[in-house]
Amino acid sequence: MLEKIDQAASALARARKTVALTGAGISVESGIPPFRGKGGLWEKYDPMKYAHISAFEQRPDEVWKVLFSDLKTVMKKAGPNDGHHGLFRLEKMGKLQTVITQNIDGLHQKAGSSDVIEFHGTFATQSCTICQRGFITEQIDLAEIPPRCDCGGILRPNVVLFGETIGYDQLKRSQILASTCDVMLVVGTSATVEPAASLPVIAKRAGSYIIEINPEKTPLSYHFSDAILLGKAGSIMRKLVSALEDIL
Ligand code: APR
Repeated sequence: MLEKIDQAASALARARKTVALTGAGISVESGIPPFRGKGGLWEKYDPMKYAHISAFEQRPDEVWKVLFSDLKTVMKKAGPNDGHHGLFRLEKMGKLQTVITQNIDGLHQKAGSSDVIEFHGTFATQSCTICQRGFITEQIDLAEIPPRCDCGGILRPNVVLFGETIGYDQLKRSQILASTCDVMLVVGTSATVEPAASLPVIAKRAGSYIIEINPEKTPLSYHFSDAILLGKAGSIMRKLVSALEDIL
């Protein structure tokens, strides 16, 4: 494994432009469960019943009572871990330009990363479904479910639910970054949900070196990843940053 980490560190050292694509796995060590696999949210809740826009439109009270209140509790307690800190360290070393994250937990920003594309939006803020007024999730009192705006409208988190499209700017910018980077760090994603899962494919086809960090292999591992660093994000990122510091 050390040799693979050294290879990945040399690719980062040579790179002029590196981007990261992160998924729920990078936040597991912060206490936020992943969606799939052992202990995954979708093992607990059917995503089509609780995380699809039509489910929210038909039964907002149930979606808030079951999924959104669970997310609010879990995210309130969570802080960045060594995976997030490692990516910020790379940014400080001038070796990471942008983090494209599928996560809605805001932990990359809390770790200090300054250029984060929230591909699936954010749970940190809410909007009124009638007047669009904005709210901070942490300040919402869930005494009333679903929470409402003064105008009577039901609040919803500013996330991309199943059945909704990715924001045009987030998608466009991410695709441009994927097609122009020298290295893409893919951390903690099952690489199964489109269009995020295509970003490493775009990068590979444009000639980038793909470094994948995950305790398990994913569909990317067999045909696209150049360095597969099997392990948890926190420990692998610590080793990768230290190997890069030895080179630079
Ligand atoms: N460090 C790194 N990776 C980890 C860790 C860890 N400590 N623990 C688990 N993983 C890996 C798992 O092996 C898995 O490959 O993280 C991945 C989590 O996969 P998912 O739960 O599918 O999360 P993600 O890939 O982000 O899902 C994409 O699907 O449901 C939608 O909108 C949701 O953004 C999410 C999207």
